[in-house]
Amino acid sequence: MWTKDIFDQQCRRCPRLNGFLDEVKEKHPTYYALPVPPFGDDDPRLLVVGLAPGMHGANASGRPFTGDYAGLLLYQTLYDFGYGSKAESKAVDDGLELRGCRITNAVKCLPPQNKPTGAEINQCNPFLAAEIASLPEGTIILALGSIAHQAVLKAYGLKLASARFGHNRVFPLPDGKTMVSSYHCSRYNVQTGRLTAEMFAEVFETIQSISG
Ligand code: URA
Repeated sequence: MWTKDIFDQQCRRCPRLNGFLDEVKEKHPTYYALPVPPFGDDDPRLLVVGLAPGMHGANASGRPFTGDYAGLLLYQTLYDFGYGSKAESKAVDDGLELRGCRITNAVKCLPPQNKPTGAEINQCNPFLAAEIASLPEGTIILALGSIAHQAVLKAYGLKLASARFGHNRVFPLPDGKTMVSSYHCSRYNVQTGRLTAEMFAEVFETIQSISG
């Protein structure tokens, strides 16, 4: 489905991440443990950019934010705003469809401790850049967290200082797309109240107000 510039299942560019995926696959043979492809509409008006697959979530299931705590609020909110056919994403074969929305990650492989290095983020960035470039003017990019926000800026060759990350902030992009940034819907952010369901809904209201 994806051209190799957008997603390459065979990608082995990051030695640390490859080695880690091999270790994880040995320990958990049923886990997907490969680069996780984007999921959703072929022709989205909203592209959600996460950070990277979680060990027992996207890395296990093979679908972004699926099995990850972070997916609970994300898929519920996508459903509430009419993008999802169901409020939960359980597995690649659960029949969930996203309409008008696609989810991708700034880094496609599981990083140890959920922390990709700067070099790994850069190594994966051409895939994100190609995915963004393949989408039309008017597309909204929802960056979840500061790393995704910075990865989107990098994908455009923009200086990180050109748009400081902030929750529910809107940044016009040079090719007629728009980035909206949000705190990541991670377990930590949700459980500490840094990101509430109401705050996340406000981000989607912002997106709706832009997309008209
Ligand atoms: N799972 C993903 O696929 N991405 C994230 O950013 C977090 C969890």
